[in-house]
Amino acid sequence: MLKIAVIGGDGTGPEVVAEGLKVLQAISKKEKFGYKLTHFDFGGERYKRTGEIISDQEVAGLKKFDAIFLGAVGHPDVAPGILEKGLLLKMRFDLDQYINLRPVKLYPGVECPLKDKGPEDIDFIIVRENTEDLYVGSGGFAHKGTDMEVATQLMIATRQGVERCVRYAFDLTRKRNRKKLLTLVAKTNVLTYAHDLWWRVFNEVAAEYPDIKTDYNHVDACCMWMVKNPNFYDVIVTTNMFGDIITDLGAMIQGGMGIAAGGNINPKGVSMFEPIGGSAPKYTGKNVINPMAAIGAMAMLLREVGKAKAANRVERAIAASVLKMKSQAAGKMGYSTTGVGDLVCEAL
Ligand code: IPM
Ligand code: MN
Repeated sequence: MLKIAVIGGDGTGPEVVAEGLKVLQAISKKEKFGYKLTHFDFGGERYKRTGEIISDQEVAGLKKFDAIFLGAVGHPDVAPGILEKGLLLKMRFDLDQYINLRPVKLYPGVECPLKDKGPEDIDFIIVRENTEDLYVGSGGFAHKGTDMEVATQLMIATRQGVERCVRYAFDLTRKRNRKKLLTLVAKTNVLTYAHDLWWRVFNEVAAEYPDIKTDYNHVDACCMWMVKNPNFYDVIVTTNMFGDIITDLGAMIQGGMGIAAGGNINPKGVSMFEPIGGSAPKYTGKNVINPMAAIGAMAMLLREVGKAKAANRVERAIAASVLKMKSQAAGKMGYSTTGVGDLVCEAL
């Protein structure tokens, strides 16, 4: 029995999560497996009501589950950073979900903003380190509010943190068995300490994977190639901050936030799956947001918990469904949020 923690979260999060769960119900019947959902109300509304975001104990309680399914985090009435750090980053860090896995795959029939690029050009996966870098929140102010004010924010890279991420990426490249090409994306020409460590660790680990070809791109050049020649890529491994940025670019070239899914992976613990877009306050409650990213996140969840066949079936159903949709953009899909969920279930 699969035990899944469900956090709808803020804005459109609960709406897209509901469609992901609808698809889970449908596939569980077809593939004949049982599951149990436990819903949690973490998010902006609870914070406004109680002043609490998530306690250490509540995070620890999530370790009992096989996976976490998350909608969105971010509330228009809550100052930036509070929920992001207090909920999303806290779960990623405390549950040691050190990989943020973000596939960039353009399905046939999905509109791509790049001229003359099609599904054969856009099929790669970004492995974003998820527990270090500028996200650690190390730093502070001196002389705050005066004209002598100093603000620092440290970029943290540890050998172990880099190595476990790089190893995961090499293993994934091997398992994926496509071009067998792993590209490190960093900025070694400027970040000559933190990214020198990345560079050295990447090359040390590469020696253990003679079957995998390696490449290196500076992050700015990577942005250029993702637009000009996305077919270069098979697997990219990168830092937390750069990964945050390039995965939004990746989301756009695969059809937008409506379809981009991701997983926060702890290979030996509990992992959390989410649409990579935000809480979209302006679309909340209108039944117009695209739940496909959440449905894709559910497919990733199923794969991670060992249900590869179910995951493949959901992915095939997504591929069949996007062909019927007019667009992947909220409000322009030719279907409502719940309609897209139904479409995927019918395709199953
Ligand atoms: C993401 C988001 C988060 C991040 C924010 C909400 C903290 O942008 O999942 O990419 O920066 O990681
Ligand atoms: Mn982001």
